[in-house]
Amino acid sequence: MAVIKALPRTLGSAIISPSQDEVNSAVYNSPGVYRCYLSKHLTPSEIACLLKYQPYIAGKDILDIGVGAGRTTRYLAPLTRRYEAVDYSPVMVDYMKEAMPEIAVQQADFRELAAFDDGSFDFVFASDNVIDALGHQDRLRALKEARRVLRAGGILAFSSHNIRYKKAFWGPHLDWCSNPVRFAANCVNFLLSWPNHLRVAPLRKITPEYALLNDRGHRYACLHYYAARSTVHSQLAGAGLRLIEAIDADGRVAPETEDDSENPSLLYVAERTH
Ligand SMILES: C[S@@+](CC[C@H](N)C(=O)[O-])C[C@H]1O[C@@H](n2cnc3c(N)ncnc32)[C@H](O)[C@@H]1O
Repeated sequence: MAVIKALPRTLGSAIISPSQDEVNSAVYNSPGVYRCYLSKHLTPSEIACLLKYQPYIAGKDILDIGVGAGRTTRYLAPLTRRYEAVDYSPVMVDYMKEAMPEIAVQQADFRELAAFDDGSFDFVFASDNVIDALGHQDRLRALKEARRVLRAGGILAFSSHNIRYKKAFWGPHLDWCSNPVRFAANCVNFLLSWPNHLRVAPLRKITPEYALLNDRGHRYACLHYYAARSTVHSQLAGAGLRLIEAIDADGRVAPETEDDSENPSLLYVAERTH
């Protein structure tokens, strides 16, 4: 995928991590990027979450943040009283407007949901690691924005990369596959990943609380936030949200004590308590 260099952006008085923001928004603003998100399927963790929290969705008001090409829209919108979708990428928003003209979609940033009043939604969804495109301060700000637009008792469900995943710190690697066509595709991906990895890897950052890592997404062209579950738990608490549970890649509620090294990411479900 071609990566276009974006200009650093500012949002109000917020300090945005310019390098990470620049890298990721260049990917999400690249022409045709929506084609990477045309899947029509939900993941097992999303299915488990949406079934369990259906009372917060059916006949309720929903905000879908980082909607991409509307993979989740086709399932959520028909169930709700009000379905709103936002994405910070004009490429994604333009695609949505053309592909699903009946859907209320607008260009807005997770960090600043000023288009929505306090306490407007029963369920806020940010699936497929939308929040991980943000740096540390921006992430905390996004969590506060999610709380602000939720009603008391409302639910935030979002997925986020797991720093304990056994391959979290790996660079590009070649996956063996006995199917020759798939193996050839793996070889192409492997080769195309290296230039991106070499360009983005110097921006990697490891702190005691989190890491910014480039990974398989968009062939190593993005820089994503990785955290442990305990860290996400305290970040949510700091934003005024109570972590209810984390759902693993198989759609199981993952007990806090369990080894989660097999999970690239977890789907967190949190409640605005008051
Ligand atoms: C990995 S894609 C996921 C798309 C969709 N949620 C899905 O599950 O198919 C991440 C999406 O989040 C959007 N995004 C990233 N950072 C964002 C931000 N700060 N505010 C709003 N959208 C953002 C990107 O433009 C992209 O469409």
